[in-house]
Amino acid sequence: MKYTTLSFLALLFLITSCKTEAPQEKRTIERGLLSQKAMVVSAREEASKIGAMIMEQGGNAFDAMVATEMALAVTYPFAGNLGGGGFMVYRTANGDVGGLDYREKAPGAADKDMYLDEQGNVIPNLSTEGAMAVGVPGTISGIFAAHEKFGSMPIQKLLQPVVDLARNGYVVTENQAKRFEKYSEVFNRVNGDSTMLYSTAFAKAETVKNPALAETLERIIANGKAEFYGGETGQKMVEYIQSKGGIMTVDDLKAYEAQWRTPVTFEYDNLKIISMSPPSSGGVCLAQIMQMIEPYDVSQYGHNSEKAIQVITEAERRAYADRSFYLGDPDFVDIPIETLISDAYSTNRMDSFSWDKATPSSDVSHGEVPGYESMETTHYSIVDQFGNAIAVTTTLNGAYGSKLYVNELGFFLNNEMDDFSSKPGVPNMFGLIGAKANEIAPGKRMLSSMTPTLVEKDGKFWMTVGTPGGSTIITSVLQTILNVHEFDMGMQEAVNAPRFHHQWLPDIVMFEPNSFDKTLLESLKSKGYVPNEEVSPVIGKVDGILVLPDGTLEGGADRRGDDTAVGF
Ligand code: GLY
Repeated sequence: MKYTTLSFLALLFLITSCKTEAPQEKRTIERGLLSQKAMVVSAREEASKIGAMIMEQGGNAFDAMVATEMALAVTYPFAGNLGGGGFMVYRTANGDVGGLDYREKAPGAADKDMYLDEQGNVIPNLSTEGAMAVGVPGTISGIFAAHEKFGSMPIQKLLQPVVDLARNGYVVTENQAKRFEKYSEVFNRVNGDSTMLYSTAFAKAETVKNPALAETLERIIANGKAEFYGGETGQKMVEYIQSKGGIMTVDDLKAYEAQWRTPVTFEYDNLKIISMSPPSSGGVCLAQIMQMIEPYDVSQYGHNSEKAIQVITEAERRAYADRSFYLGDPDFVDIPIETLISDAYSTNRMDSFSWDKATPSSDVSHGEVPGYESMETTHYSIVDQFGNAIAVTTTLNGAYGSKLYVNELGFFLNNEMDDFSSKPGVPNMFGLIGAKANEIAPGKRMLSSMTPTLVEKDGKFWMTVGTPGGSTIITSVLQTILNVHEFDMGMQEAVNAPRFHHQWLPDIVMFEPNSFDKTLLESLKSKGYVPNEEVSPVIGKVDGILVLPDGTLEGGADRRGDDTAVGF
C-alpha cells in the first residue's frame, strides 16, 4: 500500500486493520497442473503441446510463442489466426521487460465516416461482418518480430509441427462444433458459394484437416513474412477481400510493421505489474483500477463480498470512462499515461465514492446504453526453462472475425475495424463508447482491451496471465491477480472463480449467472447498482501460470473452455 498518499487518520485506520494481521483460515488449495521447468497454457491442448514440445527440444518461450500462435490458428479458428492481430508482453530471465504490438491497422483508404450512411447514422453490421470490417492483419509480422529479436530455433523447425497438424488434422471438441454450427448461416451469407473446405467435418465434431492452411504455412516458412505482406498469400487474400467489396490493398500489407512498445508498469503492494500499453487500453485501465482500489483492504472484505464488489465496480466505472475519452493509437494521439496512472489522479478519482450509494455513471461522464455481443479472442501464457515469461493475447475480434474465410488460404479474416469508434457516443459490439482519440484514420491502429500481463512479486517473476473477453478482458485479469494476491487462491482456483464486470456504460454490473448469492445482488440493488446475470454466460476465459514459493509452476487453464496446461 502507498502510505504516502494517505492522510494520517486513514493511515492509522489501515494500520489497525492491516490485511497481514487478519486471521487466516487454513485451507487446502486445489492446484492446477504443476511442472518444474516450463509450461504453456492455451485454449487448445494441441497448441499447448506443440509449444511445450518446442521448449523440450531446447527452444525458449519466444520460439514456443511462434509455434503456439500458429497452432491456435489451425485448431482454434474461432480466435487463433493469421488474419488478425495481437499483443505480447515479455519478461526475460534477466528481468528486461517489453511489449510487442501486432495489432491490425486501418487500410489506407479508410475514412473516419466509412461506417456512416448519408444521414450520419452507423450502418448496421458494416464494421462487424464481411470485407469492410477487415483491418490489415498483424499476426505474421508479430511472430517474425518476436523470432528475429529472441528466437533461437529456425522458423522451419518451429512451424513444421504446425504444418503437420493442419495436414493430418485434429479432433474438433463439442464446444467448437456447437460454435461452428451457431455461425454457419453467417459464414454462408458472408462468403456466398465459397464454403469452407472443412465445414462438414467441423460441424460433426470429427477430425478436421486444413491442407490449404498447411500450404500457406509452408510458403511462409519458405519465403518469410514477405509471403504474407505482398507475396502470393497476401495477393490472394487482397483479391478475395476486394472481390467481396473491401478496400484493403497489397500496398497496405507492404506498409504493415509490428511495433515494439514500452509496457505499462506500476506497483500494487509488493507486486510490480507489467501490462500492455496503447494501442491497447489494457495496461492503463488495469493500472488505474488497481491504483484506485489499492488503499482499500479488499482482502479483509472477502472474495466477491459486497464491499469488494462495490469498491472494484466504482474503480472500474471511473477507469472505463477515462478509457473512452483518452485512449487510442499512440502513433496518432497524445495519451497522458503518466497522469492517468498516478496516485494523485487515482485518489482524486475516488473522492466521490460512497459505501452507501452507487455513483451513477451519468455523474462520471455521458453516454448511451448499448447492447452486447459475447466475448471472443484468445490468450496463452508461456514460461520457459531459462526463466523467460510471456503473455500473449491474439484475436480476430468477433467469433471467426468478419466471418470472411479465404478458402484458398485456409483462414478467417478479422473484423477489428469495429474496435474503432465509428461515431462518437455510439457503442461498438462490446458496448464500448469511443471518442476522437479512437476515431478511424488511414494506417491507424484501433484501440484494444487486450491485457496480456506479467507480475513480479518482491522483484521476482511471479505470474503470467491474460484472457479473451472484449471489454471484460481487463476486469477478468484484475480479478485473477486479486484472487491470488488478496484472497490466497492458487492459479487454477483464481482462474475458475466466478467473475463480475462493470465498464461505466451501460451502467450495469454483469455477474456470471448462478454464481453469486441472490441476497448479495439484492443488497447491491438497494444501493443503486444494477446487477445483470443475463448479458453473458461467462466472463473471460483466463489462462495463466503462477510461480509457487519453491519455484514450481502452477498452470491455471480456465474451466470455461477447452483450455489446457502442458508442462515438463
Ligand atoms: N478485439 C477485442 C480487443 O482488442 O479488445
